[in-house]
Order: sequence, then C-alpha cells, then structure tokens
Amino acid sequence: MFLLLLLLLLLLLLLLQINCVTFPLPGEGPEQQLLKPNEWSYCDYFWTDRKDPQGTTSVAGFEVLLQKQLKGKQMQKEMAEFVHERIKIEEEYAKNLSKLSLSTLAAQEEGTLGEAWTQLKKSLHDEAEVHLKFSNKLHSEVEKPLLTFRGDNFKKDLKKYDHHIADLRKQLASRYASVEKARKALADRQKDLEVKTQQLEIKLSNKTEEDIKKARRKSTQAGDDLMRCVDLYNQTQSKWFEEMVTTSMELEKLEVDRIEWIQQHLRQYTTLRHETDMFNQSTVEPVDQLLQTVDPGKDRELWVKENKTGEVRPVDMDI
Ligand SMILES: *[C@@H]1O[C@H](CO)[C@@H](O)[C@H](O)[C@H]1NC(C)=O
Ligand SMILES: *[C@@H]1O[C@H](CO)[C@@H](O)[C@H](O)[C@H]1NC(C)=O
Ligand SMILES: *[C@@H]1O[C@H](CO)[C@@H](O)[C@H](O)[C@H]1NC(C)=O
Ligand SMILES: *[C@@H]1O[C@H](CO)[C@@H](O)[C@H](O)[C@H]1NC(C)=O
Ligand SMILES: *[C@@H]1O[C@H](CO)[C@@H](O)[C@H](O)[C@H]1NC(C)=O
Repeated sequence: MFLLLLLLLLLLLLLLQINCVTFPLPGEGPEQQLLKPNEWSYCDYFWTDRKDPQGTTSVAGFEVLLQKQLKGKQMQKEMAEFVHERIKIEEEYAKNLSKLSLSTLAAQEEGTLGEAWTQLKKSLHDEAEVHLKFSNKLHSEVEKPLLTFRGDNFKKDLKKYDHHIADLRKQLASRYASVEKARKALADRQKDLEVKTQQLEIKLSNKTEEDIKKARRKSTQAGDDLMRCVDLYNQTQSKWFEEMVTTSMELEKLEVDRIEWIQQHLRQYTTLRHETDMFNQSTVEPVDQLLQTVDPGKDRELWVKENKTGEVRPVDMDI
C-alpha cells in the first residue's frame, strides 16, 4: 500500500500540465495518432492554450477557433459592403448614360448619318438599362444574400459554444485544484507516518504503536481521496475532450459552409457581369448596322432633293 501511494504521487508528476490540462511529457507515453489524419481538421490542432506574444495571458485553442468564426462573419459583412459600393457605381453610371442619351446635341443631323446618330444616342439609353438591371441583380442576388447570411443568431450561437467549453474548462480547473490539495494531504500523511515509524524504532511504547496504526489508516484514506479526485478530474477532462471534438467539428463545418456559400455568390457576380457585357454589346449592334448603311451619295441625294434651289443653269448672254 505504501509503495502504491508513492507510485501514485510519482505518476502524477510524469505528466505535463498546462492550465489544468494534462498532456504526456514530450517523448513519453504511447504515440498519439491524429483523430482525422491528412485533413488538417480543427479537432486535431487546438488542444493547447496559446500564449499571446507578451506572454502575459493565454488564449484557449477553442477561442482561436471562435475568433476565426467572428473574422469570417466580419469578412462576409465587408464583402456585402464592397458589393454595395459596386452597385452605386453602376447606378450612377446608368444615370449618367441615361441623361446623356436625352441630349439634343447634333439632333439636326440628316439622312442615313442622322439615323445612325439617333440610334447611337438611343443605344446609351439601352446601355443604361443594362447597367440598371445589373445593379438590381447585384443587389438581390449578391449583396442581400451576403448581408443576411447568418443573421444575429450566429453570434449568439458562438457565445453558447464559448460558454459551454469555458464552463468545462472551469470545472477542470477546480478538479485540478482538488487533486493538488489531495496530493498535498497525502504527502503530509506520508511524512507523518514516517516520523512516527522512526519514533517507534527509538522508543517502543503502546501509545506510538496505536499512533502508527492511526497514521497508517489516515495515510491510506488520503491515498483513496487522491484516487477519487484524480478519477473526477479524469472524468471532467474526458468530457471536455469529447465536447471539444464535437464542437470544433461543428465550427469546421460552419467554416466550410461559409466559404462555399460565398464562393457561390461571387460566382453569381461574375455570371451577371458577363451577361452585362453581352447585353452591352447588343445595345451597340443596331448602331453598327446603321453605320454600315451610311451612304454619302444617298444623303446628298436626299438633301439636294429637299433643299435644292434650282437646277436650271445659267447660259451666255445673247444679243
Ligand atoms: C457621372 O457624372 C458625373 C458628372 O456629371 C461625374 O462626376 C461622375 O463621375 C459620373 N459617374 C460615373 C460613374 O460615370
Ligand atoms: C501495553 O500493552 C499490553 C498488552 O497489549 C498491556 O498489557 C499493557 O498494560 C499496556 N501498557 C500500557 C502502559 O498501556
Ligand atoms: C485516470 O484516467 C486514466 C486514463 O483514462 C486511467 O487509466 C486511470 O485509471 C484514471 N485514474 C484514476 C485514478 O481514475
Ligand atoms: C459597356 O460598354 C461600354 C462601351 O460601349 C463600356 O465603356 C462599358 O464599360 C461596358 N460596361 C460593362 C459593364 O461592360
Ligand atoms: C432643308 O430642307 C429641310 C426640309 O424642308 C428643312 O427643314 C431645312 O431647314 C432645309 N435646310 C436649309 C439649310 O435650308
């Protein structure tokens, strides 16, 4: 029993303890396999607390994962903001085109050239329509989804995860404190027993023998206490471990979903943008066609017919 208790004390020293979590000492214990090899899974890489550069405080691995989620949310919000600015440029551009298409400049041009010119001005109006449609679609199919993806509840959900894991860590810390206390109590009892055993060797008396029995019992009890405390600690650490795995896998899935979702909507942006180019082109096609039919000879004919002032030529004077 005596040896067993000493062994127990020793075993506890063979573990590395960081912020109340026990890890194997480097090079000690069976080799650990990753839970999800080759996946770079969140559940495999955030077990230790991270010291901040100043080394004053440390951040739990789980907090690092939560911060990534918050950053992702912020990035999503900023992308929506960016698309909003893009929309504003498009709207202003459309407004400018529309206004210019109403201009009366060169409205008096005539003939086939005049027709082409009129079509060119009209194309600005069509083009404005294209840009306006683009901006509307950007709003409904890109900006709005980006803005509303994961609403207010998202941050609340993250808080819930945060509290849940933090609570387990607090429990673990308190269990750890109990272990330390029980360990110290056991060490004290062992020392007491040693002292009394020495006394017995020096001076045999009934009283010391009784004392030793009592001391031995107390020491055994302290050993049991320590076992119980370690057991409770183990249970709490194992619960924390399980929750860490499931929760970090949930966060991992959330991040995959976020990236795929944003990717999908950025693709929608490029699709709309390509469409705009195509429509844009179609607005100038009629202008091109009319420009091909511009015919200086025909225009002269038309103009002469309307504005001629007389085709009878003068002749020589005759006496
Ligand atoms: C629209 O026209 C205004 C001036 O009339 C100009 O300041 C602005 O830059 C133009 N915007 C675009 C997008 O072309
Ligand atoms: C010591 O123990 C013996 C028997 O166990 C007993 O007879 C004796 O009276 C005890 N002496 C004292 C001083 O208590
Ligand atoms: C603590 O946990 C380890 C590993 O699960 C187990 O082998 C050991 O018996 C536990 N210790 C106590 C005192 O329960
Ligand atoms: C549409 O075409 C005009 C030239 O005709 C070009 O200046 C403009 O950038 C194009 N807009 C888009 C969105 O492709
Ligand atoms: C040419 O004829 C058209 C149609 O009659 C007329 O509107 C225009 O003012 C004339 N141009 C000139 C320079 O007289």
